[in-house]
Amino acid sequence: SSDVSSDPYGDLPEGKLSDWNLILLNHEEDNKIDGELDFEKVKFATQYVDSRAGEAYKAMADAAKQEGVTLYLRSGYRSISEQQTNYNANVQREINRGNSKEEAVRLTNLYYTVPGHSEHQTGLALDINVASSSAHFENTPAFAWLKEHCAQYGFILRYGQGKEDITGYRFEPWHYRYVGVE
Ligand code: DAL
Ligand code: ZN
Repeated sequence: SSDVSSDPYGDLPEGKLSDWNLILLNHEEDNKIDGELDFEKVKFATQYVDSRAGEAYKAMADAAKQEGVTLYLRSGYRSISEQQTNYNANVQREINRGNSKEEAVRLTNLYYTVPGHSEHQTGLALDINVASSSAHFENTPAFAWLKEHCAQYGFILRYGQGKEDITGYRFEPWHYRYVGVE
């Protein structure tokens, strides 16, 4: 049908995957980076993020605070080699639990992105949580606040519940991706 009103994507702004904020990294073969990207970083707590995403994060965290919600950045930018280290460690952990190499890789791919393919390498992905723990973040007021407000600051929940077949990842209530307000 050419009826735009029935097109769920009809209202999207113009954008290209080559735009800095729309870079697409995922399981797909081509959606990866081969080397470190060059961008300005800013630090929150122990973590660095892209300074442009960081500006939006700061505004969002300040607004949340005003409403009694404290956001904490658990993980931001990761270099490809850090991602490799985490990935390999988890494969080894699964092997130590008695899984075959193949099964260890399969299980690891549900939780960790193959190095080169992680959004964390762009500095635009932020794992946000309440200070202490990631257990059941989806049940916290902080998650409810983010669900309602993150888009106002240019962030999307990247790996939604019930979308595992599309994203290739389990539901990650803590993982927000900066794409810009537009
Ligand atoms: N946990 C997310 C999918 C990542 O490693 O990028
Ligand atoms: Zn993440």
